[in-house]
Amino acid sequence: MLKIENVSYSVCENGVNKNILNNVSLNFEDNKIYVITGPNGSGKSTLVKLIMGINKLSDGKIYLNNKDITNYSITQRANEGISFAFQKPVTFKGIKISKLLDLASNKNNTISNSCEYLSKVGLCARNYQDRYMDDSLSGGELKRIELAMALSKKSDIYIFDEPEAGIDLWSFEKLSKIFSSINKTTIIVSHQKEILKLADEIILLSDGCVKKIGKGNEMLKLIENSSCEKLRGENE
Ligand SMILES: Nc1ncnc2c1ncn2[C@@H]1O[C@H](COP(=O)(O)OP(=O)(O)OP(=O)(O)O)[C@@H](O)[C@H]1O
Ligand SMILES: [Mg+2]
Repeated sequence: MLKIENVSYSVCENGVNKNILNNVSLNFEDNKIYVITGPNGSGKSTLVKLIMGINKLSDGKIYLNNKDITNYSITQRANEGISFAFQKPVTFKGIKISKLLDLASNKNNTISNSCEYLSKVGLCARNYQDRYMDDSLSGGELKRIELAMALSKKSDIYIFDEPEAGIDLWSFEKLSKIFSSINKTTIIVSHQKEILKLADEIILLSDGCVKKIGKGNEMLKLIENSSCEKLRGENE
């Protein structure tokens, strides 16, 4: 189980302290699907980056299977079994896609392995494994390669930040099926109803706080019937 205890994150902006996450506590049970949603700027990406160790938290603790990983580096967390796909894919220019998959999965993949990872995200290995990461790849292709990298790493916890961004409607349904078949703890940041529908639990973030958390179907109804102002805690 992944446990986040009283986690806060603040940055110093023009000499002023800005709180981005306030006292967030969450338990992610094994093999469940969690979807984190909420208005733009509510702190979703910040939260998942704290879990991966990309951002350093200002306060609080993170435990993985009762082990305190608060001060672990990104690599240590990856070695402990956490896999991460960024909202905005990171481009490693000049590296072959097949090499990237080897690095991500930490092994020398056979052609059929690479093919498996790439076809999961709707890319034909024959056309992509020997291509280089560069500006000739479209936004959707980069996003898919990012997802293939995250999926190729054997992990206990998979984190995807807005995996649907830039993915066409035709491929979206296939992608949703992949998430529901991972069978490991899966944390997805999303605004999309089709992704929200996959959730065992939905976590609603607003202004850096957990506004509500509950069962997927119940939360989905609540979100659909609430105005943005209400979700933010205004007009209550
Ligand atoms: N290093 C930083 N310095 C200043 N502000 C920051 C920093 N990092 C994040 N923020 C701010 O914190 C807030 C939360 O950002 P975050 O990226 O977590 O939002 P989000 O919920 O993922 O939004 P979106 O739905 O648009 O992706 C935003 O207002 C953002 O501008
Ligand atoms: Mg975000």
